[in-house]
Amino acid sequence: MKEAVNHPEESTKAIEIEDLVKRYKELVAINHLSLTIQEGEIFGLLGPNGSGKSTLIHSVLSLLSYDHGKIRIFGQPMHPDALAIKKDIGLVPQEIALYEELTVFENIDLFCGLYISDAKKRRELVDAAIAFVHLEDFRKFRPAQLSGGLKRRLNLACGIAHQPKLIFLDEPTVAVDPQSRNQILEGIKELNRRGVTVVYTTHYMEEVEFLCDRLAILDHGQVIAQGTIDDVLAMSSIGETIEVVSFDLPQGFVDEVSQDPEVLTSSFHEGKLSLKMKAGSDRLMSLIHRMEEEGINPLSVTSRRPSLNDVFLEITGKELRNHA
Ligand SMILES: Nc1ncnc2c1ncn2[C@@H]1O[C@H](COP(=O)(O)OP(=O)(O)OP(=O)(O)O)[C@@H](O)[C@H]1O
Ligand SMILES: [Mg+2]
Repeated sequence: MKEAVNHPEESTKAIEIEDLVKRYKELVAINHLSLTIQEGEIFGLLGPNGSGKSTLIHSVLSLLSYDHGKIRIFGQPMHPDALAIKKDIGLVPQEIALYEELTVFENIDLFCGLYISDAKKRRELVDAAIAFVHLEDFRKFRPAQLSGGLKRRLNLACGIAHQPKLIFLDEPTVAVDPQSRNQILEGIKELNRRGVTVVYTTHYMEEVEFLCDRLAILDHGQVIAQGTIDDVLAMSSIGETIEVVSFDLPQGFVDEVSQDPEVLTSSFHEGKLSLKMKAGSDRLMSLIHRMEEEGINPLSVTSRRPSLNDVFLEITGKELRNHA
């Protein structure tokens, strides 16, 4: 009888980073960072400018040398000459990297040609990549003739045309219009549905909430929080934020609800009462009920879950998105 195949645990790990340190002279850009990313997940790397996201990606891909640590990809040690591994990896860099003298088709063909030598196969792959990013009408255009959003999509096509199993996308939606952005995000989901593991860096927590199975928040080259979105949100001591907008909120009522021990902080300005509640508290319905009893007719009552930014703010005292 045939024995069941026992998959070793390592086979499910796409990336293992162990105690990585990367310095630029005195500056410690990555500070003893360890992280494991599983095959088949979309993993978000979130962090403010300069937190080390790009440095981490370039170190993992051996595009940068580093000072200390171990990196394995698909169970194999990663090093600059690990060509067999590199063939399975795609990078969509933060800085758009295109050849100005080449057309859309030729640019993708050139990047694809780094890994695929068969011309017929390559043509199919380049056509598939062009269709994937919806650039069919621009095949013969040169980068200078493309808008910023279209260039971003071309940059994406160049990174994925060789159909890698693992893709790193470094802020692929910066400065793109909402339509291009949605197409990029939907495209990434589609790649993932086909089995591709994705590492996605961004400042935008909404993108992480839309895309990612798990995430790590970086600050000063360290992972300061990681897990699923719910795991990270659970680190917060803040629960929901309730906002009541009303022209007729009596001060006595504001004082009463603000003194509720479940309220962490409250503010009341220009008819807007904002209550930050403790984690796990559930006061929305009772608040609405009290307003009914008092004959108060609010214009609106809203409740907002804590966001990743709230957690980040709580841990570091800074906003996640510190650039436009
Ligand atoms: N080539 C370099 N030489 C010296 N310092 C660098 C270099 N590249 C990055 N740094 C520094 O290393 C730190 C991490 O930078 P990195 O670009 O990895 O951050 P990031 O999280 O990708 O930021 P951003 O969101 O702005 O892209 C920053 O302090 C940055 O100034
Ligand atoms: Mg960066």
